[in-house]
Amino acid sequence: MSVKIVKNLSAWFQKSARDLPWRKNPHPYWIWLSEIMLQQTRVATMLPYFEKFTLEFPDVGELAKAPEERVLKLWAGLGYYSRARNLHRGARKIHERLEAGLGFPKTAEEWSAIPGVGPYTAGAVASIAYGQRAPIVDGNVVRVLSRVYAIQKLDSAKSLIWHHSRRLVELKDANPRILNQALMELGAILCLPKNPKCGECPIRGSCKGKGRPASFPEKKPGKSWRHLQEKRWIPLRSRGPFREIFLVQNKKGAWREGLWDFPVPDSSAVTSGALLFEFKVRYVVTNHKVERTHCVFLVKNRGSMGLRGGRWFLLEDLPGVPAPVRKAIIELERGRSRAPDREAFAKAESGPEA
Ligand code: ADE
Repeated sequence: MSVKIVKNLSAWFQKSARDLPWRKNPHPYWIWLSEIMLQQTRVATMLPYFEKFTLEFPDVGELAKAPEERVLKLWAGLGYYSRARNLHRGARKIHERLEAGLGFPKTAEEWSAIPGVGPYTAGAVASIAYGQRAPIVDGNVVRVLSRVYAIQKLDSAKSLIWHHSRRLVELKDANPRILNQALMELGAILCLPKNPKCGECPIRGSCKGKGRPASFPEKKPGKSWRHLQEKRWIPLRSRGPFREIFLVQNKKGAWREGLWDFPVPDSSAVTSGALLFEFKVRYVVTNHKVERTHCVFLVKNRGSMGLRGGRWFLLEDLPGVPAPVRKAIIELERGRSRAPDREAFAKAESGPEA
């Protein structure tokens, strides 16, 4: 049965695989970069980022030499920023290997020594870039293999799934490069969490979970959400025809360390700005559901509102900002143009500057 799974799945992948940039150019740098970006992110979301990164950093040496600020700016919006920092550290480590004449890491074990590369990514890069017989287990593969082998209970290490993944990739009929991508691809486009397309599945004949895919694997108890309320100021000022907002850089150890964000209201500050309006933005990060309330102030004189430790930015020329900030800026623009407060807003904004 396993040989049949490998054959049918591989044939399907070669016929139906999505046309993705790193599949056309399976250079280890591109494969590694794509796998880091795909951790916790869908292909459609990461594609524009992949294009930006490969344009700006055409090889791993360029990425290694870039200032961290620049890497974070290009990453802004993709979330889970420790991935960007580890990617940068990883690039330096790979660059050192290249300088020492060692070449790119090749085996899953060598890849595991690179920052940001866990067991899944190590197996994925080693197999896709170098054809190593290394197993992979990510969320998609867990779903596919637990259905194929009707595995209901999973231990936290997913050992049974790793076992099956290894057994498949070690079959002599398996091309690891193709098989591993095919497993992930099947999970991404047919063996979906809800409403899987079993009728189109190339391995439905070998699937023990067919007919009751929702039973595999057994659902974990629902995620326990923590609800958080945050408050931010958006100091806004006009300089002739231009609008500027004041941003600060998140402190070390804070969420989204080093990235630009709105200032936290400071009770000791003198609020000499005029409150224009308030709005809320909701976002989700890990197990937190966060509601952010933004107070938009019009600032007329410099140094008011205790604005410290940040910079004014033109609305048209912002630095890389994380997704919640980007969402708020879209709301801010909507608020500025929305009737009925548009007139009052325009009047306040065009008032004389102190
Ligand atoms: N998800 C993570 N890595 C992937 C890959 N190489 N192909 C398709 N989906 C993926």
